[in-house]
Amino acid sequence: MPMLESRSLRIDVDSLEYLDQTRLPQAEQWERCDSPEAWQAAVKRLAIRGAPLIGLSAAFVLAQYAARHPGQQEQWQLVSDRLRATRPTAVNLMYCLDALEACFAKGPAALARRAAALFEEDRELCQRMAERGADLLTEGERVLTHCNTGALATAGVGTAIGALAVARKRGMTLHVYVNETRPLLQGGRLTAWEMADLDIPYQLIADSMAASLMAAGKVDKVMVGADRICANGDFANKVGTYMLAVAAHYHQVPFYVVAPYTTVDPACATGADIPIEQRDAAEIRGATGAFGDIVWAPENAPVWNPSFDVTPAALVTGWVLDTGVFDAAAIARGEHCR
Ligand code: MRU
Repeated sequence: MPMLESRSLRIDVDSLEYLDQTRLPQAEQWERCDSPEAWQAAVKRLAIRGAPLIGLSAAFVLAQYAARHPGQQEQWQLVSDRLRATRPTAVNLMYCLDALEACFAKGPAALARRAAALFEEDRELCQRMAERGADLLTEGERVLTHCNTGALATAGVGTAIGALAVARKRGMTLHVYVNETRPLLQGGRLTAWEMADLDIPYQLIADSMAASLMAAGKVDKVMVGADRICANGDFANKVGTYMLAVAAHYHQVPFYVVAPYTTVDPACATGADIPIEQRDAAEIRGATGAFGDIVWAPENAPVWNPSFDVTPAALVTGWVLDTGVFDAAAIARGEHCR
């Protein structure tokens, strides 16, 4: 039995295993991650993904590196800097590495304890925000979601999907529309898989269908996660979220963002300050998957491939955090930053 375990991580004193999320849903394949380099490679190809999970796994990698290289504090700092630069948008990575760096002087055992505490904390935060999110849902509602925000992406029940999972556990009947989430299909591959796991009825749609689904009056609420929430309430999430928020606003569909306080970055004044990761052109020109590689665009087709986009606070109905549900007025007072 591993010391700590979630849907996508197994952690022992000196080892970390992750469920390779690029292989789902075709295969549940676990891989060992035994160096910062292996972690970086897994995160870059999105085998380990989701804002909270990226941060938590980095904390264990750094703590285990420190245990293997005792007394080399300067070296730990360099490793921490390298981990930090791997994916720039989700602030949870910075939160977890800041927490570990604050314990550097106390040595490897303290770092391991801190990483474990972050893991347990995330599990609790998930539960709290999921309960609050579930309180907003009513029997029979049809909820649209984007990307993957469930147990795969966190140490606990998840963020937006966590709310759906708790509502389901309370006995509520929901219908979920799952945006497939181009280009890497976290919705089509991972959220669809989690919906079946949670016994929640769902329908998979292409991202381009969301607006017409709303126009047809078939969506009661939109719930998404976040990678970074700014002081003014703007937030970054998987590319395509902004388009959903615009469509929801036009069709007067309530739009909620569900996240832990570790996703709030009070130092980021507005969405314009959020660094947005740009990814490889190959992800747009074609796809790599369980069935091999396929390329549909001309070989060198010029590509723009931001991994995330920014949704302005003006399009958000409510920010559901573990600390409370905030409306625009509360956000303007900075209550989410406390
Ligand atoms: O590129 P990914 O798959 O890591 O992007 C994930 C998202 O955008 C999620 O919505 C976000 O991290 C919140 S997960 C609880």
